[in-house]
Amino acid sequence: MSRLANKVALVIGGVGGIGGAISQMFASEGAQVYATSRKGGESSSETGSSGSIRVIQANAGEKADLQRVLGQIKSEQGRIDVLVINAGISEYAPLEDISEDHFDRTFGLNVRSLFFAAQGALDVMKAGGTIVLIGSIAGDIGTKGYGVYGATKAAVRSFARTWANELAPKDIRVNVVSPGPTDTAMMASASLEVRDALSSMIPLGRMGRPEEVAAAALFLASDESSFTTGAELAVDGGMAQV
Ligand SMILES: NC(=O)c1ccc[n+]([C@@H]2O[C@H](COP(=O)([O-])OP(=O)(O)OC[C@H]3O[C@@H](n4cnc5c(N)ncnc54)[C@H](OP(=O)(O)O)[C@@H]3O)[C@@H](O)[C@H]2O)c1
Repeated sequence: MSRLANKVALVIGGVGGIGGAISQMFASEGAQVYATSRKGGESSSETGSSGSIRVIQANAGEKADLQRVLGQIKSEQGRIDVLVINAGISEYAPLEDISEDHFDRTFGLNVRSLFFAAQGALDVMKAGGTIVLIGSIAGDIGTKGYGVYGATKAAVRSFARTWANELAPKDIRVNVVSPGPTDTAMMASASLEVRDALSSMIPLGRMGRPEEVAAAALFLASDESSFTTGAELAVDGGMAQV
């Protein structure tokens, strides 16, 4: 199947972890994927299907970098069909320890940069386009020590509602994928004890895999979800659902 055949996708934060799995899955479904990362220079890879991944060095937190990437895609492809904004940070900090730096860093990337990336991409998106934002169930459940992170993800959920309404007349859909604990570098620093404790809170009894989150992003990016906008799809083993 090629559910994204002839689609041009930009995955902001598209190398490694959840974003990397999204880039791989989209390319395997036929998309021409542009994946940004702070690491490394430009590289391209073909996949088994007609899709490809082109990595562009860019800092998701730098507006100028994102403008450069959008300009490059516009001149090379003329449009973006699918925009995924995945880049995000999560740092432990209980209320009494939260510094201005922590607050600004977390809101700066997870909210401010996401906002201006979406706004900047509008110029390059056409009717039929889709935006997929990567949220988190942390936006819903009030995890101790992750208050600022949770608030940023609640803001992401809120933007999706408003943008879905605002962009519907342009035939652009906007949805959120909200993972629960997922086995990526973001989780790598957690001790075995913390990982076991997290898993015990998940009805399905384990953390998610990046590909499982990517599958939800693929659904929301493809025409299979043609009547879905403003929605949040949780990929959390039931953690925040039951
Ligand atoms: N893992 C989880 O349990 C989990 C759960 C819920 C939601 N999420 C969300 O899923 C998304 C991806 O997370 P992940 O688990 O795949 O984590 P990850 O492997 O640490 O990836 C983080 C992503 O954010 C980018 N990034 C990190 N710090 C950055 C900075 N200071 N400036 C610019 N870009 C930065 C990275 O880009 P570079 O390639 O440039 O480093 C990478 O694309 C995030 O939005 C996260 O909040 C994750």
